[in-house]
This record gives sequence, C-alpha cells and structure tokens, in this order.
Amino acid sequence: MSEDFADLKAINKKYWDALVAVNSDTEGNDGYNVKAFLAGEGDLHPIELAELPDVAGLSLLHLQCHFGMDTLKLARKGARVTGFDYSSAAIEKARWLAGEVGIDATFIEGDLYDAPDLIDGQFDAVFVSWGAINWLPDIQAWAKVVADFVKPGGWFYLAEGHPVAYTIDDEDPDGPVKVRYPYFHKPEPLCFQTTTAYADNDTQLEVTENHEWFHPVGEVVTSLIQAGLRLEFLNEHPEITWRAMPYLVPGAPGQYRMPDDRPNIPLSFSLLARKPEA
Ligand SMILES: C[S@@+](CC[C@H](N)C(=O)[O-])C[C@H]1O[C@@H](n2cnc3c(N)ncnc32)[C@H](O)[C@@H]1O
Repeated sequence: MSEDFADLKAINKKYWDALVAVNSDTEGNDGYNVKAFLAGEGDLHPIELAELPDVAGLSLLHLQCHFGMDTLKLARKGARVTGFDYSSAAIEKARWLAGEVGIDATFIEGDLYDAPDLIDGQFDAVFVSWGAINWLPDIQAWAKVVADFVKPGGWFYLAEGHPVAYTIDDEDPDGPVKVRYPYFHKPEPLCFQTTTAYADNDTQLEVTENHEWFHPVGEVVTSLIQAGLRLEFLNEHPEITWRAMPYLVPGAPGQYRMPDDRPNIPLSFSLLARKPEA
C-alpha cells in the first residue's frame, strides 16, 4: 500500500482504538450488547442468521473482527475461530472477552493487506461483516486476500452496509433522503469528523477524524469472482445494523429501516461466494 495509505491508516487506527472502548462497554449499548453476551445470550443479526450456512465443525476466519464478539458468537455455533483486526485495543479486548466466556479462540493483530504474512493456512469459511470494507482503499487486493484464505470447496460470507446507503446525507434528521456523497469508488478517501459513536449516539468521541473508501456492489462482486470465487447469492436488504441516518427506525432486532414515509432504498447487502473444489 502507498505511503498515503500508511498515514491515513494510522489516523483510522486511532479512531478505531477509541471506538473499541465505547463499543465494548460491559454495561452494554444499543449496538453491541456485551452485557448480554457475557451472560451467554445474544446472537448474530437476523440477516446473517437467515443466510449463513451451518458453521459447526468448520475452521472460520473472521477478518476485521473488531473486539471479537461476533467471532465468539460464531464459536458458540461450533466454529473453530480465528479473528483478525489491526486495532491493538480491539484484539486485546477480544482476547479478554474470549477468556471471560471460556471460549478457545485465536486473535491476531495486523493490517488486512498484511494478513497473508500473519495468518497460517486456509479456512473452511471466511466471514466479514458490517462496516468493514469501507476502511480499505483497494477492493481488488482485498478480494485476493479473502479468496486466498478460502479452502477449495469452502465459502466466503459478507454482510455489509450498501454503498447506495453510503451516498445519502447522514446528518440532517428532518431532511429528505438526499444523495450527498458519490457512489463510484475514488482513490482519494472521503474524510469525516465523526463526533458520536455509531453504537451509542449519546457518546461523544475524543478522536473524530476518519477516512473511508466506498466500493460499488459491482466492484465488490467482480473482484471476488476475479479472485477465483463463484457467487452463490447476492441479496439487498431494506435494513442495516446501525442507525446510518438519523431518521432510521428500529426494525428486526438489532437492525434499522426507513420509516414508512420515506423511500425504501437498499441499506445493506450480503453475499456468499464459494471456491471451486481443486
Ligand atoms: C465496524 S468494525 C467491523 C464490525 C464488526 N464486524 C462487528 O460487528 O463488530 C471495522 C473494523 O475494521 C478494522 N479495520 C479497519 N481497517 C483495517 C485494516 N486495514 N486492517 C485490519 N483491520 C481493519 C477496525 O479496527 C474495526 O475493528
């Protein structure tokens, strides 16, 4: 990756280190109910629960795992899990969380693009979810990393914010559903000053600067196909797992949707792609 990315990555890492403290609050918050998880409760979101193949007995790599709560939820379903993230605070908290609930899990710290040098072997399943790929400048290189970790016959599952939703003005609580940001990828990131935490809009952040790259659905899918995976499904959803615009209302548990008086645009998408048997 370029020197520019190294600088932006350092800024984004600070942002993520700061968010870990908020998101992993053991008293719980709207987005991450760590308290329930520690009590043995909580599950993945309804979108993943409806689509994800059975993971029992599979080796599973969770890339950009944040503080590992979803990784450990997948372990509770019987997967042998490895979580990977570049935030030191996230990996430290993930290891702590695994110890608290007595789950044997591996957590590795590093940048996504360095993952091939840091993680050994291939996996039956690779999993990425919710607000991950928008931190990555190069989606073709990402797809190659992902695909190379999938064993022949294994699968990759992605559940993400929809890039159409990312074009919409996310600040005006009373305004219309209005396009504000470009849909198509640009090498230069969009720069934001995000003042509140996405999992708890009442918490003011001390570290606010962050930089994101948006990736059209077509580029994501084509990159995965070019990296050697075969698409099995691509679904678009009217719900997302965080309040991406201030006027979204609660939908299925842990998800948000447009209120009835606004246009129903796609807010997230998900896909499953499989590597052919050798
Ligand atoms: C929104 S979180 C992913 C959410 C996660 N699936 C969850 O629901 O908890 C995004 C994660 O990507 C990580 N991340 C961002 N850029 C990265 C990179 N270049 N390499 C590795 N991890 C990265 C951040 O540290 C953060 O933990």
